[in-house]
Amino acid sequence: MDAISVIRAKRDRGELTDPQIDWVIDAYTRGEVADEQMSALAMAILLNGMTAREISRWTDAMIRSGERMDFSSLGVPTADKHSTGGVGDKITLPLAPLVAACGAAVPQLSGRGLGHTGGTLDKLESIPGWRALLSNEEMLDVLHGCGAVICAAGDGLAPADKKLYALRDVTGTVEAIPLIASSIMSKKIAEGTGALVLDVKVGSGAFMKNLDDARELARTMVGLGRSAGVATVALLTDMSTPLGLTAGNALEVRESVEVLAGGGPADVVELTLALAREMLAAAGVHGKDPADALRDGSAMDHWRRMIAAQGGDPDAPLPVAREQHVVPAPATGVLTALDAYAVGVTAWRLGAGRARKEDPVQAGAGVELHAKPGDPVTAGQPLLTLHTDTPERFPYALEALDGAVTVAPAGTAFTPAPIVLDRIG
Ligand code: URA
Repeated sequence: MDAISVIRAKRDRGELTDPQIDWVIDAYTRGEVADEQMSALAMAILLNGMTAREISRWTDAMIRSGERMDFSSLGVPTADKHSTGGVGDKITLPLAPLVAACGAAVPQLSGRGLGHTGGTLDKLESIPGWRALLSNEEMLDVLHGCGAVICAAGDGLAPADKKLYALRDVTGTVEAIPLIASSIMSKKIAEGTGALVLDVKVGSGAFMKNLDDARELARTMVGLGRSAGVATVALLTDMSTPLGLTAGNALEVRESVEVLAGGGPADVVELTLALAREMLAAAGVHGKDPADALRDGSAMDHWRRMIAAQGGDPDAPLPVAREQHVVPAPATGVLTALDAYAVGVTAWRLGAGRARKEDPVQAGAGVELHAKPGDPVTAGQPLLTLHTDTPERFPYALEALDGAVTVAPAGTAFTPAPIVLDRIG
């Protein structure tokens, strides 16, 4: 077997054989296939696609590159959620303790932000003392004691994907459906959850810009999960505008705590409840209604225990950025668009995200929204507040907002897109 013949086969629109796939994933993980060879293959896959059989074998080979976790000792059904990534997508934070409060265990392995989308671990690290890195034993202890754990995936889980994802990120090969589906599902299957709900984002702030591509990605992932014995469903959800009223690490933690306290923005509450109900149904847990667990404080109790078990102080004040800049509404009328991608890039440029994996992030940086599409606005009223510790970033951040805001004349009929656009499963 050699890398050049595998690359040529896919370049010439051929179907890779099982032995070719097994070999190339294993040899790449061991360093025998070089980064430049794997990036050529990833580009050939992006351009020419893969059959269902190839995607399934590729996913399997990535799972076999590392360890598999097992939560059967818990004696409770497990359910996990994965989002394909969006702007202001803090849903994992209220969702994990909420589902735990309703009776399923939630082993949530999460990632860091890269580019314009935020990462759950970066958000939680704005809580003083909170630790993302746990050993497998510590993870099980937190899960036993609190019903939910949110932590970083260990190095042993799908190492082929860790290497390949970092390579795709710098070679323009992230947006290939076979590569996204196998990347996400290899980690989720190796993690050993019994049920999985996928939140496939659609719109300017997501990898998938239109419903057809999102449906294809969702169907591919649901198929991979089910063949591996994981009860999997997918919701396709809107990412044309940011979720909630905040994008940025500590800002999003504050909003998540509001949801757990029974308040918070309507779209965040609606999506949290929709995903919680899907997770509980997929796990076969039919006890408490998630809306009751938000109302009666039990979801908040689980959150506080989970944060404390990972070294965090749930009562500590969250970091606040040193400088603010208010962006006014440009006209009077109805806000009809506030572009998710533009807001994501703005938050990133303010310091909430990173350009390279090793960059630090600012806990307090980000964007606060004072109106959502469908709201009436008056010229000059605060529309956005930008937060950063480094005010020299304001001009560059503001450039990202060019063309992001549309205000239609007062009285214009406008119905915002629903949050849940479709369900696959
Ligand atoms: N998230 C992942 O884990 N992998 C991808 O390829 C895209 C999003």
